Amino acid sequence: MRTSPPGDTLNPDGPGSGLWAGLNQLPEDLLATSGRLLAAMSTEPALTRARREMLNGLGLEVGSRVLEAGCGNGAALGDVLPLIGGRGHLVGVDATRSFVTEAQAAARRLGAAQAEYQEADVCHLPFAAGSFDAAFCDKLLVHVRSAREAVGELVRVTRQGGRVGAVEWMAHLSLSTARPEHEAGINVALRQSARNFSAGPNLARIFRQAGLTQVATRLYLAEAESLSDHPFWRAFLIDQLPLLVHAGFLTAPWADAFAADVKALDREGSFRAAFVIWTACGTKSVSSLLAGPHPGAPPPYAGGR
Ligand SMILES: C[S@@+](CC[C@H](N)C(=O)[O-])C[C@H]1O[C@@H](n2cnc3c(N)ncnc32)[C@H](O)[C@@H]1O
Repeated sequence: MRTSPPGDTLNPDGPGSGLWAGLNQLPEDLLATSGRLLAAMSTEPALTRARREMLNGLGLEVGSRVLEAGCGNGAALGDVLPLIGGRGHLVGVDATRSFVTEAQAAARRLGAAQAEYQEADVCHLPFAAGSFDAAFCDKLLVHVRSAREAVGELVRVTRQGGRVGAVEWMAHLSLSTARPEHEAGINVALRQSARNFSAGPNLARIFRQAGLTQVATRLYLAEAESLSDHPFWRAFLIDQLPLLVHAGFLTAPWADAFAADVKALDREGSFRAAFVIWTACGTKSVSSLLAGPHPGAPPPYAGGR
């Protein structure tokens, strides 16, 4: 197993829970909850804008071969297809089996024969160096053991001159609550859900460390004045609570009191919430080649064109 260089630890709070890196172990109902949360997130306006603008920054063309790592249930599919056209090729990988199955079903529903999904770990991608014109991830880096190792793998499988992109959010909510301990407590739980909580504001640093050049980052703000502004807010703040209780980050009575507080503020029109999102894009140049293949990397990828 490769180890990260000293000083690479992004998470000042320790290793984190890896909750979203171990979803295969969840009971079925909670796995379904996490799938519905991803579906709700996929259309939240600021996250959608961030994903689309990051994808535009990848320089994709009709016929491009692109990799998405941590693809979940295929949220990016509809945005990638128009960019790569029928002759392009999208490969999505994810560590969660049921999400891969859902993404495969979404591709079939759209008749997207140029999209394929498989189970794989972003830190050990089963593709040879230079297999793709571009590679990206969306809300993945906060969950992996080492964000630098994950981006290093995206760089490795991208051809020289190709682009690598990431969307990352800071799961710290600026949130109205009647009791300050509710705002503090939910943010502690959210922080525990991530391994690299501060990957977002560190994207430029991580991308440069991976040897990427022409690195550009952008910041986006997601905000709401009602739980009903978008399905994301209820899915994230209320429906997700059993997942955080199951993980041991919250007790059930605390979660109930938090939900009651948020819903009461929403009823009286005082609910307010916001979080920030970061994107980064960079180019694989000669210096990126220093990232090197992982031991046992397979022969060149044969899929697509
Ligand atoms: C917050 S979700 C984002 C999913 C998707 N990109 C989206 O925007 O809907 C994080 C995803 O990363 C996956 N994941 C976590 N660790 C992984 C790893 N080491 N390799 C591949 N996927 C991983 C999880 O299974 C989950 O689908």
